[in-house]
Amino acid sequence: MVDSIKLLRSGPLRGEVTPPPDKSISHRALIFASIAKGKSIIRNLLRADDPMRTLNAMKALGVEIRDSGEVIEVYGEGLYGLREPENVMDCGNSGTTMRLLAGLLSGQPFFSVLTGDGSLRQRPMKRVIEPLRMMGAGLYARAGDTLAPIAVKGGGLRGIHYKSPVASAQVKSAVLLAALYAGGETVVEEPRKSRDHTERMLPAIGADIRVEGLRVIVSGGNDISPFEITVPGDFSSAAFFMVAAAIIKDSEILIKNVGINPTRTGLFHIMKRMGADVEIIDERNVSGETVADILCKYTEGLTATDIAPEEVPSMIDEFPVFCVLACRAEGTTTIRGAGELRVKESDRIAAMASELGKMGVNVTEYPDGLEISGPVNLRGTTLEAHNDHRVAMALSIAALVAEGGTTVLGVSAVDISFPGFYDRILELTG
Ligand code: S3P
Repeated sequence: MVDSIKLLRSGPLRGEVTPPPDKSISHRALIFASIAKGKSIIRNLLRADDPMRTLNAMKALGVEIRDSGEVIEVYGEGLYGLREPENVMDCGNSGTTMRLLAGLLSGQPFFSVLTGDGSLRQRPMKRVIEPLRMMGAGLYARAGDTLAPIAVKGGGLRGIHYKSPVASAQVKSAVLLAALYAGGETVVEEPRKSRDHTERMLPAIGADIRVEGLRVIVSGGNDISPFEITVPGDFSSAAFFMVAAAIIKDSEILIKNVGINPTRTGLFHIMKRMGADVEIIDERNVSGETVADILCKYTEGLTATDIAPEEVPSMIDEFPVFCVLACRAEGTTTIRGAGELRVKESDRIAAMASELGKMGVNVTEYPDGLEISGPVNLRGTTLEAHNDHRVAMALSIAALVAEGGTTVLGVSAVDISFPGFYDRILELTG
């Protein structure tokens, strides 16, 4: 794929689109199926770079995984069926792969090493290393045990009560995975609710796990049963179309088959609060998650809003494209309590401030957020995706409403979560 794209101001986006399968659920399905006893079937797995890193890591751990094209078959050999990998496992750009596997590997009585690309090797890993060490695993890493590569020698775990300082589903899931191997009970508590796909999937497949408010409680040792799952569409990928429809005149898009787990749909509620015409229709249950279609129409006169810290986790991955929406709203939009954005695939606060600044937007950067004044008539120019898939796609949506052409550099990053993104946009422009 070429690494830059030139985009012109677009006419209305109209029609139907199905977003790619959910990235978070795809990772989890692969991992849980790999430690189940027997054959699991995964339908609609996301075939993008991030989950493929998890798939390849599970193969490196000795799991047989067959891809028939239509479904993925995983032949798990139980909680203790994994084998010591012969080589270092490369998680690429995928924080979810690295952090969840750090938890899983902490339960294994063998040696393994996790590494990643330049971005992942700069992202904080102490947040998983610390609790996993408390459980008794041996984890060592660069820069005073804070940065990948991470070496793990697991086994002999005991349950802990862990109060996580961050609302992070990756940290929570890492501890929960290790807890499956621990003696006694493990409690993980988070300051605010992060996405709960792990807690939804595990009890359905035989783990002894329950949720009490912000606490998740697990007892180790139970076998994991094989399962069949159909992965819903990714709300975080649908978000690009929701915002595009809201800001491009006369647009109307029906986004089909989107997972609307309430821990993920903050953007939907915020858009409604800003006056956007977004509607959830035809809700149904698919493999333990609620799925629906989302109808989004262009709206005149969006109003700015303040995002409160407690709203941040439920829209954590949507901030890059939300910043684009804020540029088109009347008034000043503030985002606070979102310091986590600085440690994503890029520093998303700095990246969006600098790129939207180039388009003529008045942006103020805070350590934990941004302030954007609108509405602004965006100016086309040359923009940089900062090696970040969501920044690349958010800037591409901004380009569709900008005056003059916009070149976005580094767009091959979209393959991390959304191969075919530009084809879908082209189809919607007719
Ligand atoms: C994810 C959790 C979130 C999110 C990431 C995927 C997951 O990260 O940003 O894209 O699948 O658990 P944190 O848990 O670190 O907030």
